[in-house]
Amino acid sequence: MKPMGAIPTAFRDVPLTIGGRPVDEFAAQTPVFVYDFDIVASRIARFRAAFPGVDLHYAVKANPFAPLLAAMAPLVDGFDIASGGELAMTEGFANPRSFAGPGKRDVELESAIGAGVTINLESAGEADRALAIAGRLGIAPKLAVRVNPEFELRGSGMRMGGRASPFGVDADQVPALIKRILDAGADWRGFHIFAGSQALDVQAIIDSQAHTIDLAARLASDVGASPPLLNLGGGFGIPYFPGELPVDIEAIGKVLLPGLGALPDTRFAIELGRWLVGEAGVYLTRVVDRKQSRGETFLVCDGGLNHQLAATGNLGTVVRRNYPVAVATAVPNAPTETVTVVGPLCTPLDRLADQVELPVAQPGDVIAVFMAGAYGLSASPWEFLGHPRPLEILAASAT
Ligand SMILES: Cc1ncc(COP(=O)(O)O)c(C=O)c1O
Repeated sequence: MKPMGAIPTAFRDVPLTIGGRPVDEFAAQTPVFVYDFDIVASRIARFRAAFPGVDLHYAVKANPFAPLLAAMAPLVDGFDIASGGELAMTEGFANPRSFAGPGKRDVELESAIGAGVTINLESAGEADRALAIAGRLGIAPKLAVRVNPEFELRGSGMRMGGRASPFGVDADQVPALIKRILDAGADWRGFHIFAGSQALDVQAIIDSQAHTIDLAARLASDVGASPPLLNLGGGFGIPYFPGELPVDIEAIGKVLLPGLGALPDTRFAIELGRWLVGEAGVYLTRVVDRKQSRGETFLVCDGGLNHQLAATGNLGTVVRRNYPVAVATAVPNAPTETVTVVGPLCTPLDRLADQVELPVAQPGDVIAVFMAGAYGLSASPWEFLGHPRPLEILAASAT
């Protein structure tokens, strides 16, 4: 038997409920992702209490499901987008938008500048293209500079600073670039400094934010102007695996808030994806077949890595570990066994859970894979092998 991550507390009831609704309501529709909006709303409220006065931006890449965006729009201060597709998905909301990410195509820059979106510039070349496009359109473009800092976010699952990088402009080249865009008549919106993702170490996040503020203050003094906005990135992680603990964001807020005085004329934003929506998602997949092979029991399901790649350990993890899973249709106190839960793809990589202890399940039972709300379906190769696209449902106790 191998360990699995802890099931989020909101989903520990047997029978399972998601967004106040019994799992039976969704079980007939597998494979399906259900997102519990109660959890998202309570995350946002917790952020507001921990970081009063700091703007909250949602990184759409974490989960772009349209009903989720519509429900979040009134509760967050901005959307961070990463493509022309995400620009279209967020059309029509009143929230300010910022567009980060390398390799923005001219057509994307043109639509974003035309729509009044702030472009987080990733390079000097991108700045030239944005200025030329804005000149053609006769618009003063909103431009911020994404800085590739000298430091990294220690302990983060994905580091985006402190090294040669396709992301952002190296810190030493930033002042000259800002002077150039100011001279060109652009509306300079400030700095974007995103140092890493999936960080669970509170001290590392505190240190990275302190370095970010120092760096922004230094750059501002080199430029001779205060940044209107400092987007501090985010990177708050969630505990997927055994032994991992949730991030104490209140402790981060306590240290961060006094530090903001270093830039008195600047607004601050934190941009989060995973921490807001990751724990809210449950992926439900039905057991199609149960088989024994050389002493091991396999539950073969109607979806796997094609829908929830991250849970199979194939999205940026070095050592495969088990996400939390459960048999959603099990009765309380059912006998348990050690099983391996796999998807329907012809690859040994398609393992949702490896040798975990679960209530005994038969074909027809439904497996719940937790922590599926961020980088789930949209970060999975759902067309691989031609299985149908899973459904997605937003559930909330108020609806
Ligand atoms: C620029 C930027 N902002 C925000 C995010 C969201 O990160 P997370 O989902 O860890 O909060 C990412 C993730 O890669 C990113 O690259």
